[in-house]
Amino acid sequence: MEFPITVVGSANVDMIMQVERFPAPGETVSDGQFSQAFGGKGANQAVAAARAGGRVAFLGCVGADAFGEAILENLRRDGIFTEPVVKSVSEPTGIAMILINKQGENCIAAAPGANNALTSAHIESYAAFLKRSRMVVIQAEIPRIAVEKTFEVLADSETAILFNFAPIRKEAPKLSPRITYLVVNETEAAYLSGVQVGTFREAEQAARILRRQGPQNVLLTLGANGVWVETPQGGFHAPALPVQAIDTTAAGDVFCGAFATATTQGQPIHEAVHFACAAAALCVTRLGAQPSIPYREEVETLLK
Ligand code: ADP
Ligand code: NA
Repeated sequence: MEFPITVVGSANVDMIMQVERFPAPGETVSDGQFSQAFGGKGANQAVAAARAGGRVAFLGCVGADAFGEAILENLRRDGIFTEPVVKSVSEPTGIAMILINKQGENCIAAAPGANNALTSAHIESYAAFLKRSRMVVIQAEIPRIAVEKTFEVLADSETAILFNFAPIRKEAPKLSPRITYLVVNETEAAYLSGVQVGTFREAEQAARILRRQGPQNVLLTLGANGVWVETPQGGFHAPALPVQAIDTTAAGDVFCGAFATATTQGQPIHEAVHFACAAAALCVTRLGAQPSIPYREEVETLLK
């Protein structure tokens, strides 16, 4: 079985509790409403690519525990191939504990756990598999050495690489000329380029600086202002679709996943960006991360 897209990245379980108010240190609040959700940028992007109609494999690391099993089952529900996922016997599955108060504010503590245990040896052992993909999608919620090893094993292959430089962290991977598509938001672009992005002119300037750091194409996402795209043939702006935004969680992840699917299915960059904007627009009209990730038919309906 061939998988045109392999996502290399993080997967978490979000433990969410809605409370009247946050407890003070040492205090217990007992009015909580509990729910569990699946997250992690890697898993979100894999689900987004699969729902957009792509055949997707996932390479990541979970704990050898019930949460890890639940993550794998959840990915399989979207038809994602999970055999490349390693189970760490020493680290628990990545968990985020999220408290949400009555005002809708949140308080989050995350434990990356097994996500930090993804090794370059594991990437190496899947080198042949990765090279058979048309595109590898990767972000920065896994160790820097795992990201850089992925660039390295793909050095002499024709596999395209989409690198989403997110989140910003101290141990950030180096940008590589092997990156086909660098996806960043305004904050990440400012961090990498030194240009504060407020206008389209500044977006263009930042994207050009980033292209000089190696990547062949730069996709700078601008929230409700769409995307600035810088290619070897020049730059262009793709507008966002006008929607009523209620929760922008995972918008960037949906953009990356949908773009990967459209591109590997042969759409030229203008069309793939437009498709990805439509998928991300639907995502922001709904609550939550993975439940808000749209299916291909919904995106096509919006584009009609
Ligand atoms: P991130 O979530 O990584 O910060 P952005 O906020 O830039 O990324 O959003 C990614 C993409 O999602 C945007 O390029 C745009 O296409 C879409 N998007 C985000 N916010 C909105 C919005 N309010 N209305 C329509 N589309 C949006
Ligand atoms: Na996001």
